Amino acid sequence: MNKILITGGAGFIGSHVVREMVTKYPDTQIINIDALTYAGNLENLKDIENFNNYQFIKADITDAKQILDIFHEHKPDGVIHLAAESHVDRSITNPLDFVMTNVIGTVNLLNAAKEIWKDNYQGKRFHHVSTDEVYGTLGEEGFFTEETSYDPHSPYSASKASSDHFVRAYHDTYGLPIVITNCSNNYGPNHFPEKLIPLCIHNVLNNKPLPIYGNGKYTRDWLFVIDHAKAIDLVFHEGKNGSSYNVGGFNEWQNIDLVRELCKQMDEKLGNPVGTAEQLITYVTDRPGHDLRYAIDATKINRELGWKPSVTFEEGLSLTIDWFLNNSEWLNNVTSGDYQQYYQKQYK
Ligand code: NAD
Ligand code: DAU
Repeated sequence: MNKILITGGAGFIGSHVVREMVTKYPDTQIINIDALTYAGNLENLKDIENFNNYQFIKADITDAKQILDIFHEHKPDGVIHLAAESHVDRSITNPLDFVMTNVIGTVNLLNAAKEIWKDNYQGKRFHHVSTDEVYGTLGEEGFFTEETSYDPHSPYSASKASSDHFVRAYHDTYGLPIVITNCSNNYGPNHFPEKLIPLCIHNVLNNKPLPIYGNGKYTRDWLFVIDHAKAIDLVFHEGKNGSSYNVGGFNEWQNIDLVRELCKQMDEKLGNPVGTAEQLITYVTDRPGHDLRYAIDATKINRELGWKPSVTFEEGLSLTIDWFLNNSEWLNNVTSGDYQQYYQKQYK
């Protein structure tokens, strides 16, 4: 492909996808469109911002005209769509923001792609990046496969499920060439500290409580973000048209065990006595509608495309903590201002 348009490329996962594409495909133009909400940060892309095959455009996917104009002007062959409101807790406070960006924004992109590709879908592809949360919750056993029925519970997952349905509907109704990936929890460098792992790293560094929702036995399947970026590259280029692929880390952790592992690693790295960080663990009011357990069966992407995670969780977590320790300016910048207000309100 000559030109790939990536949405949400200034965010956590998007910035790793942009870097992967810009460095791996020097003959392909990568256009990053992002509204730079509280979660978007061009600092995430400092190392590649001057590459010849990279361009940034500040744009809001809820603005249908602006999006169509960009598609007409740049005529991308491929779209990798990551722009979203992504935090479950914020979706509980402001569901409509999630409908606007995740549902309406996705439909605006689908309309723009359909419009400029209408004469010939050959060599075109719309890749929608979604989440395992669309499947709802598991009990103590079992895994989500690509055949699991959708059963979202939070406004965030309901909006992502809706966007997945629209993407499939555009394939079935108009023949738009699409692929979808549904991934488990990511972690790694550049993760915004509203999410569990970077929030706990930030709080240990500031000697603040580590808030554990409910009884801490909720379970997530964690994947290092660069492994997700590589899975997206693979599915975008080699995935079967009209198909969806689950992506996961084969790596389940109860929240409380994960936070204990994080505390252990941080004590070692900071040279503190064993048990120092754990003393900060504080059980707090549960998240409403909290899904008990997510676990991905990633057999399909492994069997069809040969993808598997490249780092163990302990390695990935160590790399992640090191990144935060070495990037204190980044962390200070994103935790000043609005973040403080958000934090007070969420954890009052
Ligand atoms: P993020 O919140 O870190 O980044 C989202 C990006 O989208 C930001 O750069 C933001 O500025 C941009 N954005 C938001 N609204 C926009 C709008 N209206 N127009 C243009 N840009 C807008 O999110 P993330 O964690 O990097 O997630 C990226 C995608 O991956 C999302 O679609 C999310 O649902 C999905 N996903 C995330 C995870 C995870 O663990 N973080 C796991 C699976 C799937
Ligand atoms: O599963 C994929 C999803 O993972 C993505 O689609 C979402 O965009 C992403 O935010 C993430 O959602 P979660 O809600 O699972 O991630 P979060 O880091 O917010 O929470 C992880 C677990 O930790 C969850 O069980 C809630 C709990 N938690 C979270 C926070 C922020 C706490 O116990 N305390 C906290 O302060």
